[in-house]
Amino acid sequence: MRHKILWLLLLLIMLLTACGSRTTAAESAVPPLPTLDSVQVDRGRALYAQYCAACHGARAEGASGWPTPVADGLPPAPPHDDSGHTWHHADRVLYETIHMGMGDPLRPGSPLRMPTFGDQLSADDIHAIIVYFKSLWTEEHRRYQMKETAKDFAPTPTASSSR
Ligand code: HEC
Repeated sequence: MRHKILWLLLLLIMLLTACGSRTTAAESAVPPLPTLDSVQVDRGRALYAQYCAACHGARAEGASGWPTPVADGLPPAPPHDDSGHTWHHADRVLYETIHMGMGDPLRPGSPLRMPTFGDQLSADDIHAIIVYFKSLWTEEHRRYQMKETAKDFAPTPTASSSR
């Protein structure tokens, strides 16, 4: 009888330690934020000053008065620092916006409010600007944006996998 109780206790301890170590493994599975390449950040900052600052603000703080709509009824150029919503978008979305420009999303074919830069900036230039934007975000916002980017490249869920 005594032996049985001891064995049960031992089994319980083993189970508890197994569960405990699983939690630690899951916690340590959160990927660390990659360090931003300072050469890219500097390059992105310089390109930003040259091509974007006139509309989006010297330190990416957005046009003055943002988000109050301007003459066309839409908000002026938004911030790219933490106060805007640039950090909500996956890398691909940011890349395409910069490469192709952006019009009023509710009026397809309307004149571009954000000019296209695909003919002036190389892919590396655009990536450097996006890395510069990342240097302006808090760790929390960078983590959020990293998840959005990962989701963007994840396979589309099928009916059976989403169940
Ligand atoms: C002529 C003014 C102008 C210039 C120059 C300009 N933008 Fe914009 N940009 C805008 C406006 C206006 C919007 C908002 C468009 C809308 O919401 O309809 C915008 C939107 C954006 C967005 C989407 C932001 C979001 O949070 O969804 C990104 C990203 C962006 N710009 C990046 C850039 C970069 C990078 C440059 C320089 C290479 C640049 N812009 C240059 C006017 C400009």
